[in-house]
Amino acid sequence: MSTMVKPCKCATETKEELYYKISEIIEDYRGKEGSLIPILHIAQGIYGYLTPELLQFIAEKLDMPFSKVYGVATFYSYFTITPRGEYTIRVCLGTSCYLQGGKKVLAQLKKQLGIEIGQTTPDGKYTLEVVRCIGECGIAPNISINNTSFTQVDPDKIGEILESLS
Ligand code: FES
Repeated sequence: MSTMVKPCKCATETKEELYYKISEIIEDYRGKEGSLIPILHIAQGIYGYLTPELLQFIAEKLDMPFSKVYGVATFYSYFTITPRGEYTIRVCLGTSCYLQGGKKVLAQLKKQLGIEIGQTTPDGKYTLEVVRCIGECGIAPNISINNTSFTQVDPDKIGEILESLS
């Protein structure tokens, strides 16, 4: 028995169709002061990252210059204009973590993953970032992976942490 498969319309989607969810959200925020940052937060949540096309779309909808929208999206480290990996690893380099070995943890992660800060591994699995504090200063050095904190991280045990993820 064969099943009829409907042809995929992705390639012929209009910008409005592609971004219909964010269109609705922009409408909800229209005319409200300070709406750009929450819209970017939501857009990143929906689409994973902020492509130039998506930023252009948001700029047009908000009647804002693209340069302003792009400027905000690239100023805040929370926003990303490139795809993130399945796991976003954030190494804390706040004072407490820095003084207690955060730099060594970062060096080990860079070495083990073969990427620099802000990059994603070619297999799309890990993105490496740094943060200023994750609120666990008393048990430093710390990293967070997605929404989980790993405290008192031993640089020599990074491999074990990465293995525990999958
Ligand atoms: S300085 Fe690293 S958790 Fe606060």
